[in-house]
Amino acid sequence: MRARLASKNANKLRELRHALPDWELELLDADGYPPEEGETYYDNAIAKARFGREHTSEWVLGEDSGIEVSALGGRPGVESARWADDGVAALLDALKGVEDRRARYVCELVALSRDGEERRGTGTVEGTIALEPRGSEGFGYDPIFVPDEESRTVAELGNGWKRDHSHRARAARSLLRKSRIH
Ligand code: IMP
Repeated sequence: MRARLASKNANKLRELRHALPDWELELLDADGYPPEEGETYYDNAIAKARFGREHTSEWVLGEDSGIEVSALGGRPGVESARWADDGVAALLDALKGVEDRRARYVCELVALSRDGEERRGTGTVEGTIALEPRGSEGFGYDPIFVPDEESRTVAELGNGWKRDHSHRARAARSLLRKSRIH
């Protein structure tokens, strides 16, 4: 099945392609994405998917994700992309001297067909925020996020690990479990 990911992020595409092997997934090539001003990941994901539907007749996948830090009351959460110019530095700064370093990645996926059929999937990864950045793969907060059961950061674990274990891969599997579109 051909589908478009309503995103410009090639990292997200790589992770989702692996988790959706029967989909021929490509990035949507369009300008003017809607601003991410929703109150929930779902609001932002469906806004991207609806935007995508204006540009293609294929299935469109909208995605929104973020990191929720316990000691910050769940922030930056849905605001992760616009929270700070350098989110890694801002987070390390905010957690200086803080003992509770628990955090979680969240991903919400919404697939929309041309006639408006909708499928959803959610995925999370629990972990902690490291004391300093380590590793070079992945993107965003990966150099400081250590998943539970691991001692390395996601950036050290690498893209191979992310393809199977990321919040995005988990959301994709949850979407497939709930849908007939595979
Ligand atoms: P958006 O989903 O593109 O709106 O932005 C999500 C933001 O959350 C990204 O800019 C990153 O800062 C962060 N984020 C989401 N997923 C990941 C991930 O897999 N690794 C690291 N950071 C992520």
